[in-house]
Amino acid sequence: MLPDNPTLEQYLAYATDLANRGAAAFAAASDDDALEAARIQFLGDKRGELLVLQKGLGALPPDARRDAGRAFNEAKTTLNAALDERRTSLRSATPSGPRLDLTMPARERWRGGKHPITLVIDEIVAIFRELGFTVALGPESESEWYNFGSLNFPADHPAMDLHDTFYLGEGALLRTHTSPVQVRTLQKYPPPIRILAPGTVFRRDPFDASHAPAFAQLEGLAIDEGISFVDLKSTLTVFARRFFGPSTKTRFRPSYFPFTEPSAEMDVECRLCGGVGCSACKGTGWMEIMGSGMVHPSVLEAAGIDSERFTGWAFGMGPGRIAMLRYGLPDIRLLYDSDVRFLAQVAE
Ligand code: DAH
Repeated sequence: MLPDNPTLEQYLAYATDLANRGAAAFAAASDDDALEAARIQFLGDKRGELLVLQKGLGALPPDARRDAGRAFNEAKTTLNAALDERRTSLRSATPSGPRLDLTMPARERWRGGKHPITLVIDEIVAIFRELGFTVALGPESESEWYNFGSLNFPADHPAMDLHDTFYLGEGALLRTHTSPVQVRTLQKYPPPIRILAPGTVFRRDPFDASHAPAFAQLEGLAIDEGISFVDLKSTLTVFARRFFGPSTKTRFRPSYFPFTEPSAEMDVECRLCGGVGCSACKGTGWMEIMGSGMVHPSVLEAAGIDSERFTGWAFGMGPGRIAMLRYGLPDIRLLYDSDVRFLAQVAE
């Protein structure tokens, strides 16, 4: 403590001691809070020790004030310098500086991407667009007539067994295929018609490695005067070569659908074994990619089109199956999984 009426010697000694204690306290402050407490103790506006030293000047004899004033100023300068120095060193110090590691790599952002089925549909649509096809859509809740009757399914025909579905009551059901979009489009627009109809269809199928009760289909339809099976084969072969590669081999096998006559399944050479035969193609060397055929005259008539004047062909395929071929997926259920780690592998 500074005595009430100090001598010059006492004042000078006290000023030196104060400056030393203050500078040491600032230097020892371990964080901003400790430094602020020390600042208030020594440099505080109301009861700071430096203020007491300043007031002590007035109690000195007049001839001592010049030397004492200089000592006071020195103490003040020393304290302020020590305070500034510690402030600066605390700011740049680690680890008690800002607790952020700015060198840590940022977490990568999931930017979103298209689902493999959407990628396949987009690609097929782009190929057929060059051949003059546009996209048409139809409702997922469909009438029995559009789903079956207009497509030449006789009532109780065994072909309907494959199309067991979810009935919504009053002749309404969840469509089992995209083929009803053929009739809806033909009713609305006069030929020539070239459309693709992608969409979701529903069947009472188990959910297993190769089936799902709701899945994507892609329908194609071309109607005009003078269209023959040659157009069907050549267009679908061009498509297969564009989609799977220029040297892709294709074959057509006779089949049956109520709405086409004749009907054919189209196969492409197995993508995995190159036609030698493997487990994916069940040893045949071929993979079935779609059903197709010449549109049955009674489908055209059901849609109000003159079947003597117009002919055409159609196909239906499963983009999910195609995505499995393209991306080598072992289980169709992966396509219904929202695990972004799976989706990110093919995302574009
Ligand atoms: N609608 C058929 C199905 O879901 C697929 C199909 C086969 C569509 C032949 C066609 C076609 O347009 O010509 O099984």
